[in-house]
Amino acid sequence: MNSPTEIKSDILITDYAMDRAAREIREKVSEVLGGNPEIDLRVPPPDIAAHFAIPCFPYAKTMRKAPNAIAQELADKITVGADNYIGRLEALNGYLNIYLNIPKTTGEIFSDFETYGNSYGCNSTGKGKTVVIDFSSPNIAKPFSVGNIRSTVIGQSIYNIYAANGYKTIGDNHLGDWGTQFGKLLYAYELWGDDEKIRQNPIKELLNLYVKFHAEAKQVGGNAASEEDENSETSENPMENEARKRFKMLEEGDAEATRLWKWFVDLSLTDFDKIYNRLGIHFDLTLGESFYNDKTDEVIKLINEKGIGTREADGSLLIRLDEQGITTPILVQKKDGASLYATRDLAGLIYRIREYNPDIIMYVVGSEQKLYFQQCLKVLDLMGFNTRAVHIDFGMVSLKEGKMSTREGRVIFFEDVIEEAYQRALKILEEKRPDLSPEERLEIAEVVAVGAIKFNDLSQSRQKNVVFDWDKMLAFDGDTAPYLQYSYARVMSLLRKADAAGQVMPELLTEPEEFSLLRRLARFPEAVAEAAKEFAPHIIAQYLIETARIFTEFYGRVPVLKAADENIIATRLQLVRYYAEVMKSGLALLGIKTVERM
Ligand code: ARG
Repeated sequence: MNSPTEIKSDILITDYAMDRAAREIREKVSEVLGGNPEIDLRVPPPDIAAHFAIPCFPYAKTMRKAPNAIAQELADKITVGADNYIGRLEALNGYLNIYLNIPKTTGEIFSDFETYGNSYGCNSTGKGKTVVIDFSSPNIAKPFSVGNIRSTVIGQSIYNIYAANGYKTIGDNHLGDWGTQFGKLLYAYELWGDDEKIRQNPIKELLNLYVKFHAEAKQVGGNAASEEDENSETSENPMENEARKRFKMLEEGDAEATRLWKWFVDLSLTDFDKIYNRLGIHFDLTLGESFYNDKTDEVIKLINEKGIGTREADGSLLIRLDEQGITTPILVQKKDGASLYATRDLAGLIYRIREYNPDIIMYVVGSEQKLYFQQCLKVLDLMGFNTRAVHIDFGMVSLKEGKMSTREGRVIFFEDVIEEAYQRALKILEEKRPDLSPEERLEIAEVVAVGAIKFNDLSQSRQKNVVFDWDKMLAFDGDTAPYLQYSYARVMSLLRKADAAGQVMPELLTEPEEFSLLRRLARFPEAVAEAAKEFAPHIIAQYLIETARIFTEFYGRVPVLKAADENIIATRLQLVRYYAEVMKSGLALLGIKTVERM
């Protein structure tokens, strides 16, 4: 699974050792209980030594027996042999505890790794199904916002995770490249634009024009629309009036307006592409809001046909959603007939459904748009579509020193953030690894910096706010990408040193730390499946942190190269190799690269 975006769902992976073990347990328990009982098979908390457990409380009533007596009966009646996954059973406090048959399970896990190779961890649940993932989606002529960064990092990871679950994934960068703000920009450009300056520093200069427009609009009086609010109509403001005229021209295809708009889009995309390249981001589509400009009439027509809209006295069109439990109505057409962000999103929903017939459409957008997406998805329902669409929301980013915001001029440019991480990583490497060549350090610093930024974002549940704390995210010890990358690199150096004289014989692994590690690796497929179901990259991140911890325990207690027997050496090396494979694949799902030495 070295590059998860390249995973093809034609590898048919239906199960792994732990799935087979679970199936066996269910079958044997069902046989004893009779009928078709519901079995709540669990992995017990770490302080319980058993590998699986089934609570027997739910059966007490129908069986008229104490839960522990039922557990005991199961433990007594289930018979197992050397070829079973179940090794031993025990009744404890109303639970049936299950211990795996270690030699059998070890052999099975080894054989899974051999069978699935690079695809170990993937599954083909999504075979024949498509998901559309709307992510990143920055606004043209504005700097990449912190929200766009989170969306980019989380979105790419969810993309990778769905690909690993066998889905056909379509990543769509829904650029903010349309709307009344372009009228403002065009007008500001007419007044103050300087091509040379723009060419030199596109995003900063375009942002300046935009900011200047707002300052000026405030000056000339009337009530200027707030920067974010494209819905407000403030016709008394002469600046706003001029801007609206320019946008109308753009909508109607005026050649000069279109030429300038295209130029702004190109300049912005060139800038964004630098970020995408550095972060290793891939889109299948970059359609943007403008793509839907000629598709919004149909949305309005459909709304009218279904009779779900209300025409206001001023001619604008609203959809009230009180009956659906949402008290804020959503505006879908302005009084002058112009479309809005929402209209273009609704057109996008319909387009995606028709074009791709997706199983799920995902919107990776910050939680400040929560209400907005609730509204859109309800409207989708009311229009009669039943495709599953989900808003994958996430919290804010703050600096350790305080809030990070694009408002009030406190603009943070993402290039600066990456550069800062890069410089810091380089400094750490210069201190820690003076033995590496300068070129090598440059290369590693880039991988470490990007990894640190991404992991900081992905390692906890999306809804939580992310704190930017350089020292913490770049630490080589702690729950960080550099730590995991370092663990990987150390293992790779161990593997380089090894010579493979012995024979790999899984049955030679008898130390408890060996089985702990192996069983941990056997749970990677579960993390991959779970992360997709929950749209939660942090499940992978947390899995990797815990796996690295268990590996350290193993490595601290069990000699590898210094083991007594060369077959044991070979087998333990194989286990170490599997660990490296899982770490590499897991990090790749988060969009994080590994290096062979660091
Ligand atoms: N351009 C918007 C922003 O930067 C995000 C767009 C999200 N995607 C969507 N389909 N609405 O806030």
